[in-house]
Amino acid sequence: MAVLEIKKYPEKILKQKAAFINNIDAHIQHLIDDMIETMYSARGVGLAANQVGIPKRLCVIDVSLKEDKKPLIALINPLIIEKEGTVEAEEGCLSIPGYMTNIKRAERVYARGLNREGKPVEIEGTGLLARALQHEIDHLDGLLIIDRMSPIKREFFKRRYKKFVKEMKSGR
Ligand code: NI
Repeated sequence: MAVLEIKKYPEKILKQKAAFINNIDAHIQHLIDDMIETMYSARGVGLAANQVGIPKRLCVIDVSLKEDKKPLIALINPLIIEKEGTVEAEEGCLSIPGYMTNIKRAERVYARGLNREGKPVEIEGTGLLARALQHEIDHLDGLLIIDRMSPIKREFFKRRYKKFVKEMKSGR
């Protein structure tokens, strides 16, 4: 297993819609393992394949670090099939390090996809799991948390973040 480089905003691949996976082969299973390793190493609760430079519909999620016992999930070609309620909470993203913002999401979601063996699975998510599922599937559609903010807040972010990155690089 290897820790992969996580692509950071504003890299273009993060805006790209990821392609459906037709063939779940050893190559995909290897990618899943590397993504799990990368997610844990970055202490994230989820990671989408385009965040490591592979524009394919695949994500891994493990919310057990932050919330009680939930299994590690690897989902291929995931889709949200049902949503209920709305809840706003603070959210971050490994591709926008150091930034947190409040995002409105559905409170409960039902997602469908394939597991690493290619078997169809359905996942019901509430709390952080619901949020992570929506966040990662957004990534696969080329959407970041900033795309879920109001245009005014987004403009403000863009201006501030450039400055923030510059400051981080100069070690201030
Ligand atoms: Ni993210």
